Amino acid sequence: MRPISAPHPAARFRRLRASAPLRALAQENTLSVNDLIWPVFVCDGEGVTQTIASMPGVVRRSVDLLVEAAQEAAGLGIPAICLFPYTKPEVKTPGCEEAWNPDNLTNRAIRAIKAAVPDIAVMTDVALDPYNSNGHDGLVQDGVILNDETVECLVKMAVAQADSGADILGPSDMMDGRIGALRQAMEAAGHQNVAILSYAAKYASAFYGPFRDAVGASGALKGDKKTYQMNPANSDEALRLVERDLMQGADMVMVKPGMPYLDICRRVKDTFGAPTYAYQVSGEYAMIKGAALNGWIDGEKAMLESLMAFRRAGCDGVLTYFAIEAARAIRAGKA
Ligand code: PBG
Repeated sequence: MRPISAPHPAARFRRLRASAPLRALAQENTLSVNDLIWPVFVCDGEGVTQTIASMPGVVRRSVDLLVEAAQEAAGLGIPAICLFPYTKPEVKTPGCEEAWNPDNLTNRAIRAIKAAVPDIAVMTDVALDPYNSNGHDGLVQDGVILNDETVECLVKMAVAQADSGADILGPSDMMDGRIGALRQAMEAAGHQNVAILSYAAKYASAFYGPFRDAVGASGALKGDKKTYQMNPANSDEALRLVERDLMQGADMVMVKPGMPYLDICRRVKDTFGAPTYAYQVSGEYAMIKGAALNGWIDGEKAMLESLMAFRRAGCDGVLTYFAIEAARAIRAGKA
């Protein structure tokens, strides 16, 4: 496509910006409630909410309150919720065995939500970090993150999640070969219709800081994740990773973080045309929320503008901690 226009004054771009109806007619992209996936944090107990200092407005909820929150999300028309567990330090081990316990926090939450709110899709996190006393997404031996041994753990974890009723698996670990292994395991376990949204191009980012507080992994993490998450300087590699994951059976792919990587979203969408999502991560949320709380920006407008940017970059949807606020604003006609 090569957009053309006549010279001034034949072309006056301001004509189509002169009034709300003309702006509406000329609008290229839209933001809908259908584009939102809501990441949520779940903790033990009953009737419990815990605030997260680095993510104002975001809380951890016990399973009973999470079910109510899922109900609210479904009522607003949000298609999916994505679960992240806050695991108590006592349960974390170097072998990460809690990850595939059928009665772990995530699996209990999946069952409770599926029973009470059948209209919302439940997405899970497939990665070992919430259960790992080392804070890493993989098993650690002598300071090295083991790949194939980790994939075996991820398979057990994902089967337990699918058995509990998960609709979408979200492998966020960046081990090689995990998508093929998960897909095979789903076929073998009779879960042919469980979808995989691969965190295909996930960067080793400083924007995950608040999330690690939220899941209680900040204290545990030794070192960094650079041997498995991508180098922020790379772009072609993202396309190779997305192709690899699609060829191994991913149904949807993700770019993460979101706003600093919109160029990657656009390349991925243009190259493969697959369902493409971005994760507007905790640090991005914290920046917008923090500035808004200080009165430095209009929080609602900045939120909607940031979400529209993902649509403009070619994303089919966004994982965002703003999902509930955004859905309300969209329904109020503000987007
Ligand atoms: C870990 C995981 C992370 C996020 C989702 N899954 C953090 C990390 O890789 O250290 C980050 C999400 C966010 O920052 O909002 N498996």
